[in-house]
Amino acid sequence: MLHSMKAFGITAIVVLGLGLIAGVITWAVLATGDRGPPAPTPPDLIDLDWWQHCVLYQIYPRSFKDSDGDGIGDLKGITEHLEHFVAAGVDAVWMSPIFESPMVDFGYDISNFYEIHYEYGTMEDFENLLEKAHQLGLKVLLDFVPNHASNESEYFIKSEAREPGYEDFFVWADALPDPDNDTNRLPPSNWISQFAGSAWEWSTKRQQYYLHQFAIEQPDFNFRNPDVQKEMINIMNFWLDKGADGFRVDALPYLMEADPADHGGGYPDDPLSGRAEFQPGQLGYNVPLYTKDLLELYDRVHEWRGFVDSYLQANGGDTRVIFSEGYANISMTMLYYGNEDGDIGAHFPFNFDFISDLSNTSTARDFGYTILKWLTYMPHGAVPNWQTGNHDNNRAPSRFRVNMVDGLTSLNMLLPGVAVTYQGEEIGMRDGFVSWEDTRDVEALRRGDNETYLLYSRDPCRTPYHWDNSTNAGFSTGNETWLPIAEDYVEINLAKQKEDARSHFKVYQALVKLRKEKTLSHGEYSVRALSNRTLFLVRYLRTFDTIVLLFNVSELSDTVVLSRVLHLELPATVVVSSIHSTRVAGDTIEGETLTLAPGEAIVLRAKPVS
Ligand code: FRU
Ligand code: MG
Ligand code: CA
Repeated sequence: MLHSMKAFGITAIVVLGLGLIAGVITWAVLATGDRGPPAPTPPDLIDLDWWQHCVLYQIYPRSFKDSDGDGIGDLKGITEHLEHFVAAGVDAVWMSPIFESPMVDFGYDISNFYEIHYEYGTMEDFENLLEKAHQLGLKVLLDFVPNHASNESEYFIKSEAREPGYEDFFVWADALPDPDNDTNRLPPSNWISQFAGSAWEWSTKRQQYYLHQFAIEQPDFNFRNPDVQKEMINIMNFWLDKGADGFRVDALPYLMEADPADHGGGYPDDPLSGRAEFQPGQLGYNVPLYTKDLLELYDRVHEWRGFVDSYLQANGGDTRVIFSEGYANISMTMLYYGNEDGDIGAHFPFNFDFISDLSNTSTARDFGYTILKWLTYMPHGAVPNWQTGNHDNNRAPSRFRVNMVDGLTSLNMLLPGVAVTYQGEEIGMRDGFVSWEDTRDVEALRRGDNETYLLYSRDPCRTPYHWDNSTNAGFSTGNETWLPIAEDYVEINLAKQKEDARSHFKVYQALVKLRKEKTLSHGEYSVRALSNRTLFLVRYLRTFDTIVLLFNVSELSDTVVLSRVLHLELPATVVVSSIHSTRVAGDTIEGETLTLAPGEAIVLRAKPVS
């Protein structure tokens, strides 16, 4: 009896065990049968070039890391921290200008295009940076600033002195007589500088005006002069020979202005905007008809693309890229990719739509519309890109809301194409407060006064990087830093976010990791608003995988009907979630509806689309 009981017991266990295994197998067969044939490996997909789906990080060198205690970031500081980019999952960095400069516009006024600025280090420091970056598998892009030089550059000094070969390096013009006053002189046209006031400055030495679309200390090159065109190629060639992987190209819409030859030998006035809120001399008083977006400028972009392509052919290695910068309407922006005559332009123009078109009052529908705008206008086969900030604009958490940091990073990382990160965004850095006394930005100083400067100042987005909670946020051991450290560094810093169980940095890392999957590099996309508050983005590779982002961009919570999300079949699993979400990675989502807190973002993996 005992014996048979025991035997029965063993048998029962064996039978139960077999049943369980059989059950699991049946479930698996049913489940996969239900889902269509499982794809064990991603479908055959074309290989992408290194830049086509990269994470591109903008370093603002002056504020990244100070290695020598002078309160100013430098190249050694960057080199010592290149591992940060590897840890974050970044593929390529571009650095705001590191060249010799009087620093009126913090490096965008270059006095020697072939030298490193002394506060940032030496040529050797640059070579070391490049060597280590390449060893770590990182690409390094430089900022190429073709529109203007510093008035302290040799080019300008020689041009002002009418030295042979340099007379026409800049845009020089005679004064106009003042009909009301014989002894007075007037500038050649009513053109207004980006930093306020006339775009023309009188040179006593040369007895002529020169053009400066930016600061007085940033004279505009004359791009109708073939010698200037050649010099630009020489500059690019020099840095490519050093090993740079390409360029971010600055301020392109302002490259060329109306040609006097087309206007009876003079410079035509820009039409007036008629907008009562602008005073004469204020940006916005004119419509920049003759000073911005001139079609001829694109010829230069095509030439430079041709140059970097031919450089690759002659020298081998990986693709050298040009990413063009400029704030322009969608048509003029898209032209930087190339035109329908077959002229190829930049690898991509930077997409500033998240900066220019969206704010903290934008609805989910606005987000959807803005995202689809780029994707709709982009030429066939081109590579899109996304970014929420840069060194010229208030930081994203300050422009939007601080609870949107992870949702914005999710959009950036999960949309097709290149994801651009501005220094500090990976830890959710916000604008720093910079008093009028501490203000250094030329735009704020020239456009504003002690009451209005914050409308224009770019200092708040340029305060030093928050490494840890030590003095100066670990940025510098000096007594002073060139801009103040933002006060919130004790709470918002990289060291803390590496330790915290949930942090913006960890969300960033998780998203970058997810991004390396084929669904995100190669998948189809669908973007739509579910309501005024919540947006969805679906990325899918049929029969292989589906990734869904739900993002409540509003100030209120929102309950959404999940069956309205295209291609989302439940149950789905949470892969990444914003740090204030109650859902965490691994959670299952299966209800008919889902309530998202204000700013909440969750990324789900769902059943493949058959
Ligand atoms: C981008 C920018 C600014 C700079 C200007 C002139 O618009 O890079 O930061 O002041 O161009 O170079
Ligand atoms: Mg330093
Ligand atoms: Ca120009």
